[in-house]
Amino acid sequence: MRRVVVTGLGAITPLGVGVRHSWSKLIAGQSGIASVADFEPQKRWRELTSTVAGIVPKSGIGEGQWRPDDWLSASDQRRMSTFTQYAIAATEMALEDAAWKPRKKEDLESTGVCLGSGIGNLDEIYNTSLAYEKDGYKKVSPLFVPKILINLAAGHIAMRYGFQGPNHAVTTACTTGAHSVGDASRFIAFGDANVMVAGGAESCIHPLTFAGFGRSRSLSTAFNDDPPSSCRPFDRRRSGFVVSEGAAVVILEELEHAKARGARIYAELRGYGSSGDAHHMTAPLEDGSGAFLSMKKALKHAGIKPRQVDYINAHATATPVGDTAEALAIRSLMAGEEGYANEGHIAVSSTKGSIGHLLGAAGAIEAVFTILAIAENTLPPTLNLTEPDVEPKFNLVPLEAQEKEVNVALSNSFGFGGTNATLVFSKFS
Ligand SMILES: *[C@@H]1O[C@H](CO)[C@@H](O)[C@H](O)[C@H]1NC(C)=O
Ligand SMILES: *[C@@H]1O[C@H](CO)[C@@H](O)[C@H](O)[C@H]1NC(C)=O
Ligand SMILES: *[C@@H]1O[C@H](CO)[C@@H](O)[C@H](O)[C@H]1NC(C)=O
Repeated sequence: MRRVVVTGLGAITPLGVGVRHSWSKLIAGQSGIASVADFEPQKRWRELTSTVAGIVPKSGIGEGQWRPDDWLSASDQRRMSTFTQYAIAATEMALEDAAWKPRKKEDLESTGVCLGSGIGNLDEIYNTSLAYEKDGYKKVSPLFVPKILINLAAGHIAMRYGFQGPNHAVTTACTTGAHSVGDASRFIAFGDANVMVAGGAESCIHPLTFAGFGRSRSLSTAFNDDPPSSCRPFDRRRSGFVVSEGAAVVILEELEHAKARGARIYAELRGYGSSGDAHHMTAPLEDGSGAFLSMKKALKHAGIKPRQVDYINAHATATPVGDTAEALAIRSLMAGEEGYANEGHIAVSSTKGSIGHLLGAAGAIEAVFTILAIAENTLPPTLNLTEPDVEPKFNLVPLEAQEKEVNVALSNSFGFGGTNATLVFSKFS
């Protein structure tokens, strides 16, 4: 069996541009959530039930700010949606980090891309619809189609670097990032590629997004006046998730290939499991049995027992039902495991308390944080968790990061439509 390891990381999050930047702020307990109530057009933003969001910092100069000119020419900026621009920048960082910039034909042919988005470019669809309704055919840009297709981020990455391996784009709502990383690992394991650029990107900070999720009663509404307090996974006062934007990329590589070129190895991707609820459009099964199934399958694939898991990066978006169901699923997973009678041993945190929900990029950024938990032996905290109200009394890493030896960690992602995936990473030895 070909083994798959992680050799590079890249990220753009509401905490800033760059992996180190985002991680150090996360560990320091900082929040990337801000108010959108003053955005234009105010008429549309002000009527919303939720006016908080995780926005990539764009104002001004300094470290960690998003400046498209740092990454893209003016013509590329015009041709690419924002989610694609984020994907390109995260890829550039990750390839740099992995020291993988191949030129030889066989290397280019064995390097692929698997990167998706949940929603894509809503802004472009919205503007074009309005212009078309008003003035017709001539108002539709020739770039309209390439700017709205989800797979164009993966396409642009391949064009930029000449990668001719598998070129794939997942779109499974909030599970997109995890499925992208998981599917990419299968391409390597099956021999379709030696190196894969894998991840997710999202940028749909548009009032229509908030109107839509608001109408489905998914969003945080209770802390519009205090944005950093608005995302509260597992907390009694949680009321829903916070929409965020960003991108994350991991470079996955076949183990012998990585060793042969002396690449630094962050962790090994040991397992990948996915499942479908077959239940409801937006609600999970309340007992968490779907989530249980994806974790169980991923661990089976990894050949790892539940009791060997040191840390779980939960999907927990801070919706009342979802967080409870996931906690129950984790309890079912651990039930009957010797030595786990005391649930306090199980470390579970949700990094969404700090960055909100990156939708199609969530699974990718959370995979990055899970990998760093292993590489740095640090559990990232669950912010705003002052009154836990989920029943099993896990160590939910409230408010502050904790030091702990992390050899095996899981990352969970669940999405509308009832689709779930779990990734299992371990220390490489
Ligand atoms: C859509 O139109 C708004 C208002 O004119 C503008 O601010 C925004 O940049 C446009 N978005 C795109 C993707 O063209
Ligand atoms: C929530 O967490 C953020 C970031 O640590 C903090 O600024 C805020 O005060 C917290 N709010 C509450 C109500 O706990
Ligand atoms: C997805 O996750 C939710 C949240 O825990 C869970 O209740 C649901 O059953 C899961 N669905 C699938 C398809 O595994």
